[in-house]
Amino acid sequence: IVDVKGGPNEGLDRVGLMIVVAGWVRTLRAQSSVTFIEVNDGSCLSNMQCVMTSDAEGYDQVKSGLITTGASIWIQGNVVPSQGSKQKVELKVNKIVLVGKSDPSYPIQKKRVSREFLRTKAHLRPRTNTFGAVARVRNALAYATHKFFQENGFIWISSPIITASDCEGAGEQFCVTTLDFFEKPAFLTVSGQLNAETYATALSNVYTFGPTFRAENSNTSRHLAEFWMIEPELAFADLKDDMACATAYLQYVVRYILDNCKEDMDFFNTWIEKGIIDRLSTVAERDFVQLSYTDAIELLIKAKKKFEFLVKWGCDLQSEHERYLTEEAFGGCPVIVSDYPKEIKAFYMRQNDDGRTVAAMDMLVPRIGELIGGSQREERLEYLEGRLDELKLNRDSYWWYLDLRHYGSVPHAGFGLGFERLVQFATGVENIRDAIPFPRTPGSVEF
Ligand code: 4AD
Ligand code: MG
Repeated sequence: IVDVKGGPNEGLDRVGLMIVVAGWVRTLRAQSSVTFIEVNDGSCLSNMQCVMTSDAEGYDQVKSGLITTGASIWIQGNVVPSQGSKQKVELKVNKIVLVGKSDPSYPIQKKRVSREFLRTKAHLRPRTNTFGAVARVRNALAYATHKFFQENGFIWISSPIITASDCEGAGEQFCVTTLDFFEKPAFLTVSGQLNAETYATALSNVYTFGPTFRAENSNTSRHLAEFWMIEPELAFADLKDDMACATAYLQYVVRYILDNCKEDMDFFNTWIEKGIIDRLSTVAERDFVQLSYTDAIELLIKAKKKFEFLVKWGCDLQSEHERYLTEEAFGGCPVIVSDYPKEIKAFYMRQNDDGRTVAAMDMLVPRIGELIGGSQREERLEYLEGRLDELKLNRDSYWWYLDLRHYGSVPHAGFGLGFERLVQFATGVENIRDAIPFPRTPGSVEF
């Protein structure tokens, strides 16, 4: 369908062609002498309106009521200008074949159904407009991600899913019990960063893009137990380079979907989040706000707003604080907060000269809060060992990570972006469970 209707004239340039459409019936409307079937094949949001009269081959199946919403069909016909106002072209059917009929219990009938309901039908929800559009835009974001990094000389590396290390040190790992990996304890990775660092200190700029896991029992609209993360790692780079890369990356992928997913973005703009196109266009163009954690805390303390969680220097920013900064204090602009207290950040972050903060940065965006978390890494062996000792982490289990500081250490930096949060940000879907085909959250593994 996209081949016909996706062109500059919404299909008018295809008039006269004989084509075959294979897809699923969205609606069927029978009038006395003609039947209209809306069919969708998932290639784009648009359905193909198929117009059929009794001379079409296979018409008896339509007449006898065998072809209903949800059925899969194969239709051959000619592209003709449409009489209706909703589309430029339609299909004048020569032949219809019922491939798989659909039981009348088909749960996704035309009437609008809630997203909560659709989560209980995760196997059928891709057949709706919303989930079809989210899947296509998610795909475009993945493609644009590879395109951005490849065009900028980054090498994609695969980091392991089964691992012995806890990158973030937050104790949120799932245990791999059956494997228990040939006598050694093993976990599902929370981040590919430590592995990415080994390749960055050999190949220079690299990135990972793969699934990561967190055993945090959070039931929020922005946490999953299994999510995809994009983690670039830059060699011979500091925190400023890291922030510049994160900004350029986000602007690139946002611009990419605005330019290449117009129909789906218009759909989100109308039905999911009014104004999302303007919001994203601004993000793609303007400079992001940058401020230190210390300044952010000061701003939050001065804010005439009652937060649920008390703000004081040293506290972790809660989602309400992050959203206040980006949505209210800076009018919807992404905000990069840097130089956090070392106590609330991971062991590998580079210590600043003040002795109490580290070269970390989080990028906060409206509606989501933290989209990106990154840092410059501690490349100085003695500082890193000192930090491991302070945190009572066992140096021996980090021997290979410490080796990178023994042999040709370089300043390096990177970040992690939660891909589903990016999909939320780019489509307007409110719940992260709707930004991934099969969400894994506490208690949900059915599909
Ligand atoms: O801030 P985080 O924990 O950082 C890291 O894992 C670093 N090792 C990344 C790096 O520097 N290479 O996670 C990074 C991002 C967050 O900003 C968020 O977007 C996403 O991953 N994220 C989650 N997304 C969905 N569900 C969860 N439970 C998430 N936890 C983190
Ligand atoms: Mg973080």
